[in-house]
Amino acid sequence: MKIFLDTANIEQIKIAKDWGIIDGVTTNPTLVAKEGNIDFETRVKEICDVVQGPVSAEVVSMDYENMVKEARELAKISEHVVIKIPMTKDGIKAVKTLSSEGIKTNVTLVFSPLQALLAAKAGATYVSPFIGRVDDIGNQGLELIEEILQIFYNYGFETEVIAASVRHPYHVVEVAKMGCDVATIPFSVLEKLFMHPLTDRGIERFSKDWEEYLKLKNK
Ligand code: E4P
Repeated sequence: MKIFLDTANIEQIKIAKDWGIIDGVTTNPTLVAKEGNIDFETRVKEICDVVQGPVSAEVVSMDYENMVKEARELAKISEHVVIKIPMTKDGIKAVKTLSSEGIKTNVTLVFSPLQALLAAKAGATYVSPFIGRVDDIGNQGLELIEEILQIFYNYGFETEVIAASVRHPYHVVEVAKMGCDVATIPFSVLEKLFMHPLTDRGIERFSKDWEEYLKLKNK
């Protein structure tokens, strides 16, 4: 499973890139706004240069013409840019146009298997079902991923499924077990994937025993 980092924070991206475990990055207007006074296009370029893999940058227009216009401009920033487009009628129409031009797209704000099916039919490179937000309203986000994967498998769609709105390591392990193509993960959740109390206890024990060994050896 590919791991994308769900952030527009360049420091976090550099750290995760150095760990050697991220394949791409996803941003959205909320994540960009969190960065304060930055220039969006400059930040996207910076992220692409660090990641050297797919970087989703979202359009903010809501009508077809302006979405396509914005997307074409963003796509000029780097070969790594993937255009994030909301799951609307205009959005799907824009995906069809952009995919015919060879511009990669990521259909975002997907909350049902049928929305994912439409995005795949339009030629989306990725779809992003928001599992955490589905859980938030008392439904099963993980079931949504399972249903989309099944439909894409049935018809051989090449569109990749990005599990988005990931809130904890359990989401990550479950989507990995399902064979989801990508999980986009906030930095705080990514850090948690490293952790296990038995690893900490094991390291403590090995260090202590090694100290004992050195004391005996040097007697
Ligand atoms: C990623 O593509 C999404 O924009 C992001 O995962 C949404 O996460 P949230 O529901 O925690 O805002």
